[in-house]
Amino acid sequence: MHILVIGGAGYIGSHVVKALLKRNMEVTVLDNLSTGTKLNLFPQANFIEGDILNYDQILTALKQNVDGIVLLAGKKAVGESMENPMKYALNNINGVINVLNAMVEANVKKAIFSSSAAVYGMPQYLPLDEEHPVNPMSFYGFTKLETERFLKWYDQLKGIKFVSLRYFNAVGYDEAGDVKGLEENPQNLLPIVMEAAIGKREKLKIFGNDYPTRDGTCIRDYIHVTDLGSAHALALEYLDNGGESQILNLGTSIGSSVLEMVNKTEEIIGKKIPYEFAPRRAGDPAELTAKADKAKEVLGWEATHSDLENIISSTWNMYKNL
Ligand code: UD1
Repeated sequence: MHILVIGGAGYIGSHVVKALLKRNMEVTVLDNLSTGTKLNLFPQANFIEGDILNYDQILTALKQNVDGIVLLAGKKAVGESMENPMKYALNNINGVINVLNAMVEANVKKAIFSSSAAVYGMPQYLPLDEEHPVNPMSFYGFTKLETERFLKWYDQLKGIKFVSLRYFNAVGYDEAGDVKGLEENPQNLLPIVMEAAIGKREKLKIFGNDYPTRDGTCIRDYIHVTDLGSAHALALEYLDNGGESQILNLGTSIGSSVLEMVNKTEEIIGKKIPYEFAPRRAGDPAELTAKADKAKEVLGWEATHSDLENIISSTWNMYKNL
């Protein structure tokens, strides 16, 4: 199978590319390198510098005998999406429509799409299964939900089969060190913990210690990017075997609190993480955990790299020598 990985030079995309190559797929990466980096490219994969906002570039790439796509390109900062919804509408909606329209023109019928736990909004019960009502609290989450709705229509009207993967909190780095690029200006917890550990930032601010959780800090379901990568490979094989379109959670169902992440990091790296408690961040639910049974049933997928030790040590390997 020849797969076009759009956004394949990014943090999650590069781990997806590694997983597809491991399953002997032919891979072409298309990326505009806005947040992705050439450091994340694999020599076994072809590379095209291109943008999802450029219809002709997508179409030309799809016409190189592509059998399916993985679409990861897009904007992903929840806070920024509330301040600059235009940027998110353009990249996460217009960009996706461009890709879908080009797929119709090039007669490519298989798509794996990066979705997010942000589609659910404030949980009504936990762990979140795929039937939980969707009510995004951020414009970012809204763009992911709308894309899933476009996908359903393009399936019904044009026969594009898709698997939409709702990631919970993506963390970790390739354990073999094959992904070399570090994310610039990280917004997420674990990279910020690492930057505090190496002195790149003065201290971590823990947003809220008065949540109704076991230690007062927020609980999240952290999933290693190596596990995300294998889910994409399995999803492509599933569609190649004639599978119907699916929406699937990718998580572990195990929640870890912010303080547990900090304490475990201190234990593993043998250094203190300077931190202070700060007010709650707007829009943060106290707890988010996934029920991922459906991904197991449909794809035979399970998280096997997502214990905290592996998550933290694979991330530390990237930061310790900075
Ligand atoms: C959010 C989205 C998720 C998206 C991800 C991408 C929601 C509900 N979730 O995850 O879908 O894929 O962003 O960026 O919108 N924290 C601190 N201090 C910090 C940074 C984070 O205490 O400096 C805490 C947060 O309050 C949160 C936890 O750490 O409780 C994880 O935060 P973060 O890594 O930003 O991810 P989410 O907000 O959970």
